[in-house]
This record gives sequence, C-alpha cells and structure tokens, in this order.
Amino acid sequence: MYVEFWATFIARYPVYKGFVLYPIKVNLFELKIQSLDREHLSAMLELDKACFGGLWSKEGYQRELDSPNSEIQGLFSQKTGEKLLGMGCFWSILEEAHITILAIDSQYHRQGMGAALLYSLIKTARDRHLERATLEVRASNLPAIALYEKFDFKTAGRRRRYYKDNGEDALILWLGGIHKPEFSQTLAHWDKFVREGLRKSCWKLAVRS
Ligand SMILES: CC(C)(COP(=O)(O)OP(=O)(O)OC[C@H]1O[C@@H](n2cnc3c(N)ncnc32)[C@H](O)[C@@H]1OP(=O)(O)O)[C@@H](O)C(=O)NCCC(=O)NCCS
Repeated sequence: MYVEFWATFIARYPVYKGFVLYPIKVNLFELKIQSLDREHLSAMLELDKACFGGLWSKEGYQRELDSPNSEIQGLFSQKTGEKLLGMGCFWSILEEAHITILAIDSQYHRQGMGAALLYSLIKTARDRHLERATLEVRASNLPAIALYEKFDFKTAGRRRRYYKDNGEDALILWLGGIHKPEFSQTLAHWDKFVREGLRKSCWKLAVRS
C-alpha cells in the first residue's frame, strides 16, 4: 500500500518543489486491450449493468460477438486478476464506425483507460478502412463528452428526447477523416497522450500480439 502510494505519486509528480524524484524506478502495471469473446459474456453483462443499468441483454452481446460487422474490445490487467476493466464496441456500417459502447469500471475512472479504449477503437476502425466515427451521447454526460472532445469529435446534431428512460436529448458526435494519410500524425499524437495519461496512474499499455 505504502509502496503503491509513492509509485503513483512519483509517476504523477516527477518533479516536486524543484527536486527531481527520478531515477527512482516506478513500477508500471500492464494493461491489455483485446477482442472479447463468449467466455467474457457474464463480465460484459455485469459491466453493462453497472455502467448503463442494463443497456443490452445477453442475447444482444452474443449477437455482437457473432457479427463480423461488430468490433468489441475489452481492457484487462494481470494486476486486477484479469477482471474486465472496460469495454468498447463499434459497428461498421458502410464506411462509418458507429461507436455503440464505451464503459470503464467506475473503480478505475480517471486513470486514462477510457482514452486508451477509445483510441484503440478508432485505430481499429482505421485499420478496417473506415472513413469516420460517430456516436450518440446523453447531453448530460459531461465526462464522456469531455473525453470525445479530447479526441476531436464534433457535435453535428441533437436527437430530441432520444432516451426513453428520462426523455433526455442525445448529442450526435462525429470524427471525420480517419482514413486519410495525414490522420497517422493525429494517431501518433494520441498514442503519446494515452500513454502519458495511463502512466500517471501507474499503467502502461501492453504491445498487442
Ligand atoms: C466516459 C468514461 C468512459 C471515461 O472513462 P475514464 O477512464 O474515466 O476516462 P479517462 O481517464 O481516460 O479520461 C480521459 C479524458 O476524458 C475527460 N474526462 C474523463 N472523465 C471526466 C470527468 N469525470 N470530468 C471531466 N472530464 C473527464 C478528461 O479530459 C480526461 O483527461 P484528463 O484526465 O487528462 O483530464 C467513463 O466515465 C464511463 O465509463 N462512464 C460510464 C459509461 C458512459 O457514460 N460511457 C459513455 C457512453 S457514450
């Protein structure tokens, strides 16, 4: 506990009142992002329930896992016993990536995991030769909106009273040009941003096999 506190402190504040705290070695814990499959179904349902109050059913997730047009990824770490820490999903529809799910276990919010997963989804969409990404978000979901804005999503419209549970509006966000050659520079910039964000909470992304 004591060691973890200092490791986190040093990762966040490498310079404290003029003293450089490095080269004390900081232990970074590995995080991996991988495609989800049937063995993760119950963990997916649990996370869905905790984050969205039960948005999709078991059959709904099963359909996603079976569909070639659906990309569904999860975030794990050995440090947390391979628990599902987050998940994200998009559908490929024509040349668009429709992001349908992005959720991080609330115990791990503000540690850079949402950014890491969103980055991975966008990168995968580009690898699939899609041209733009879009999603709907509750107008009151300021954490998610702040995250999407960091990744250059722009508001393109609003669906009035879209959410049945409370009649809330949905914002429609878009990110264009992900297939363009120059987008590789944006990705490189985000890669750095994601790694730095994770590092502040003592995480690092594992190289994907
Ligand atoms: C939205 C969500 C995925 C963000 O995940 P997260 O891991 O906490 O986000 P990160 O730590 O990667 O944050 C990255 C950036 O997003 C923004 N952000 C994230 N949470 C924020 C908050 N609570 N308030 C303000 N900005 C926030 C910040 O700009 C942050 O960068 P910073 O920490 O350097 O300031 C998470 O809050 C979540 O799972 N919410 C419940 C499910 C949900 O609403 N999903 C979105 C559906 S459209």
